[in-house]
Amino acid sequence: MSFIRYKTIIEEGDLVIAHLSRENMTPLIVDSRKTYNNKFGTFKHIDMIGKEYGTKMPSHNGRGFMYLLHPTPELWTHVVPHRTQILYVADISYIITYIDLKPGSVVLESGTGSGSFSHSLARTIAPNGHLYTFEFHEERAKAVKKEFEEHGLSDLITVECRDVCKDGFGITNIVHAVFLDLPAPWEAISAAKEAFKQNRIGKICCFSPCIEQVQRTCASLNENGFVEIKMYECLIREHDVKTIPVYTVADAVNKIKVQQDKKRKRKDQNEQDDDNSSKSKQDPPNLYVTKTPNETKGHTSYLTFATFLPVLDDE
Ligand SMILES: C[S@@+](CC[C@H](N)C(=O)[O-])C[C@H]1O[C@@H](n2cnc3c(N)ncnc32)[C@H](O)[C@@H]1O
Repeated sequence: MSFIRYKTIIEEGDLVIAHLSRENMTPLIVDSRKTYNNKFGTFKHIDMIGKEYGTKMPSHNGRGFMYLLHPTPELWTHVVPHRTQILYVADISYIITYIDLKPGSVVLESGTGSGSFSHSLARTIAPNGHLYTFEFHEERAKAVKKEFEEHGLSDLITVECRDVCKDGFGITNIVHAVFLDLPAPWEAISAAKEAFKQNRIGKICCFSPCIEQVQRTCASLNENGFVEIKMYECLIREHDVKTIPVYTVADAVNKIKVQQDKKRKRKDQNEQDDDNSSKSKQDPPNLYVTKTPNETKGHTSYLTFATFLPVLDDE
């Protein structure tokens, strides 16, 4: 099983994303001796073996079902064990596009954290690019390295345990793009500058939750000769699908008449309304619409981008 090469049939030891609902997914390593229990029932791993990824699998006791999905970076971001704060899909997609990554790109990232962003980076630069990622927390670096191996990504990713603010990256003249998700990215910018391929344009992105961090990052980018410094914020706005009744003018007039009739009857005869019978006759057709919330609570971080200009020869 690999996040880069898709396969059809589930085998022992494969990673399956058990999809119970849009908000409820779990990663499972298929182990024929195990059973997965949840509120939708009992699912024996052995029953997954030989099935196609994407299959809808009923539970053993018939209480419900789940879908057996092939892992993707997007699904992994949904289910990744959180050892740190992570990047989510809205920011991930925007950053990857803005820093111009494609198959063959060489990228530098720090800190690796839980590896949420690294999975998307690896898929984008595959099959012949490379990601150099740096994490100074030893346990996190070990855990993420193991996951990259299990997910078939270790040929594409080199993980190093190192404090990049103190010791730099130890690589020069190699990368096309740099991504920094660090508490103090400005301390790593001059080292990142050396890592860029010196004879071509490169892109850098720094991800910071606070505006004060953005100010210091911009100052450092400026001092180090980066140009086109820009900051963006990706906000997610949800769209709920709802139904609303569609009234024609005639429907509306009729509805008013019915209500007036009811009122009159109540008054005259003190009768109980027969709500259901009048409702079913009067109900107009429904229309699907989307509704957005009045407030958007989507702030994850500010994204500061800049361009590295190639070093020109004196001649
Ligand atoms: C917010 S997490 C990164 C999350 C990651 N982008 C993801 O999507 O999973 C920041 C990481 O930077 C690491 N870090 C902080 N300062 C560092 C430094 N000076 N050198 C290397 N790693 C550092 C932390 O240990 C932490 O794991």
